[in-house]
Amino acid sequence: MYDFDEIIDRRHTNAMNTDGFRDYIFHADDTMTFPYKDEEFIRMWVADMEFATPDVVIDGMRRRLDKRIFGYTRVFGSEYYNAFSAWCRRRYGWDFPQEQLVMSNGIIPALYELVDYITQPQEQVLFLTPSYAYFKYAADFNARPCVCCDLKDQDGYYTVDFADLAAKAADPRTTLFILCNPHNPTGRVWRREELEQMARIIQDNDLWVISDEIHCDLLRRDQTHIPLGKVMPDYEKLVTCMAPSKTFNLAGMMISNVIIRSPELRRRWLSRHYNFDNPLSIAAAQSAYEAGEPWLEALRAYLDGNFSFTAQYLARELPHAKFRVSEATYLAWVDLSAYFAPDEQLPLFFAYEAGVLLEGGNMFVQNSDGFIRLNLACPRAILEEGLRRICQAVNTRHTGKYLGPA
Ligand SMILES: Cc1ncc(COP(=O)(O)O)c(C=O)c1O
Repeated sequence: MYDFDEIIDRRHTNAMNTDGFRDYIFHADDTMTFPYKDEEFIRMWVADMEFATPDVVIDGMRRRLDKRIFGYTRVFGSEYYNAFSAWCRRRYGWDFPQEQLVMSNGIIPALYELVDYITQPQEQVLFLTPSYAYFKYAADFNARPCVCCDLKDQDGYYTVDFADLAAKAADPRTTLFILCNPHNPTGRVWRREELEQMARIIQDNDLWVISDEIHCDLLRRDQTHIPLGKVMPDYEKLVTCMAPSKTFNLAGMMISNVIIRSPELRRRWLSRHYNFDNPLSIAAAQSAYEAGEPWLEALRAYLDGNFSFTAQYLARELPHAKFRVSEATYLAWVDLSAYFAPDEQLPLFFAYEAGVLLEGGNMFVQNSDGFIRLNLACPRAILEEGLRRICQAVNTRHTGKYLGPA
């Protein structure tokens, strides 16, 4: 019914994925060359998918296109809220009043703004590491110091060091905690007890908290997402971020949801935020929430398959790699520290030696040396070729000869 095996040519679409990797991964310009042509790379880096957006979303955009006028637009009325809040109720048993919903062109710009609106100079921003780097960049952008709490890695299963989190939260300079729920890059889905423990620490220290839940729709099929807002139903200093961008491969449409409980913070947001939305993006997002669920369930089944394929492949070909299937996201977090020195530039190694574009090492702030992050949201044939190249490059370098698949 849905063809996730289809290979779609993304060239000449101004895709970050195909055209933006030199700048983003290597901080280089077009003069940087590789032993591979650009179109020969297997691209497993930036967090968007190689799958087509569902037809129901494209149909929604088409219906909007047929209205032919694209003047200044904002989310007015209740239609969009009804679609999105019904999605949250259905999938997460979680609800919020309409007035708390504001729109943003993305979660990244929302983080940049929120850090500014919430914190004072000298106050510091707390988050768990390894981390999605934009948590740090949002603090850096606003000249706020960061304080990092390293997750504990027990055989590839990451847990929170609550004593360390509590100590860092108790520092009077810490006023904001940014939580990635579920967690990129480790793929953890936080359990209720873990969220409750975090909630206690947040409450005890009267912290602001931004719960970035952008990956919450993309869970393995045996997992359940719990919005932090459900664990902290009455806590006013909570902001929740969700979006259709990861879920439906709509990142380029630049529309996301920010749910702000505090009336004061909402007033600040509404008075300072550039408050227009793209008409096609609203149509896309609303159609996705109204009619995209069957596609999402099929996608999740395909991603589960890609994860088990990867687990089997790595166990067979790279026995010293440590990998546990991510509970959430389409991102695999693989520990290659048995094969590489901690300071090895892994994205550079794999681009040159394997023709694979991936993220890894210090791109995740700290506590991430020796790790690579692989984007598995691609057709199985591409995944297989990416894994083949990765394993071959590691084995060639490690043993001097590649033994090949059994
Ligand atoms: C945790 C997290 N937050 C935010 C984003 C990006 O959000 P947006 O594209 O809405 O700016 C990503 C993308 O990878 C992410 O992983």
